[in-house]
Amino acid sequence: MTEEALILSETDRHVGIIRLNRPKVLNALNPQLMTQLAEQMETFDGDDAIHVILLAGSERAWAAGADIGDMAECSTLQMYQRDQFATWDRFKRIKKPIVAAVSGYALGGGCELMMLCDVVIASETAQIGQPEINIGVMPGAGGTQRLTRAVGKATAMDVILTGRFLSAKEALAAGLISRVVPKEHYFTEALRVAHAMAAKGPIALRLAKDAVLKAFETTLSEGLEYERKLFYMLFSTEDQKEGMRAFMEKRKPKFKGK
Ligand code: HXC
Repeated sequence: MTEEALILSETDRHVGIIRLNRPKVLNALNPQLMTQLAEQMETFDGDDAIHVILLAGSERAWAAGADIGDMAECSTLQMYQRDQFATWDRFKRIKKPIVAAVSGYALGGGCELMMLCDVVIASETAQIGQPEINIGVMPGAGGTQRLTRAVGKATAMDVILTGRFLSAKEALAAGLISRVVPKEHYFTEALRVAHAMAAKGPIALRLAKDAVLKAFETTLSEGLEYERKLFYMLFSTEDQKEGMRAFMEKRKPKFKGK
């Protein structure tokens, strides 16, 4: 018997597209789904033809959180032994930029998954929150840390301690998502953004992502030093020569990822 496809994947030129596929439970993230997702992410990350990854849910739900049914009766020891966050850590190591196409619910682990993506294009219908407090727990896959870094203490405390959902508009104003678009266009707009990014130099894309993420892990002077080294490093690529020469020659660059 073939394994159930909890995600669907396809490619569109240089964009690798993954869709979460548990519609009946609003894409609740069980460990099997997270494993399939991590595997597909790693496959795209290792494929030279893919420059950008696009991750989407459905129109009703990006993901309504970790699968509550799957965790409800677990003991501390079982949670500890299953180590489900190991697959989330694999997601963190993806080097290529990830665009999230978010519509409907992005809650709990769904919000945490969204925050692991790099550019978030959301439908105006998006409802984003960390409602774990309503079910007797708290965020466990980065919510208290990444949300706080993204939106600051006041909004993070409000969202995490009351369990209320942010509208797309509020999330945009708070700096949690990148753009909000009408619901009919959220996927096509996210794909358009992914293609626009995929046309840039792939090495510069990866290093720029790396440098931005460094800002969450380090002091300003160390971060600046790190940025400078990556910037210098790009001068050993053909893409840097091509990009700058193309500008001087008033033509479009042809990047090769070399
Ligand atoms: C399992 C879920 C689910 C979830 C929804 N469903 N969310 N199943 N885990 N997180 C299921 C419902 O049980 C239901 O199944 C079906 O999806 C449709 O959901 P409804 O509740 O009927 O829809 P609606 O009334 O529109 O309400 C939508 C909702 C609500 C507001 C999103 O479903 C909800 O509050 N869900 C839980 C949100 C949440 O607490 N997330 C945090 C989870 S903890 P049936 O079979 O009845 O049709 C977490 C910890 C992270 O994420 C730790 C890291 C791993």
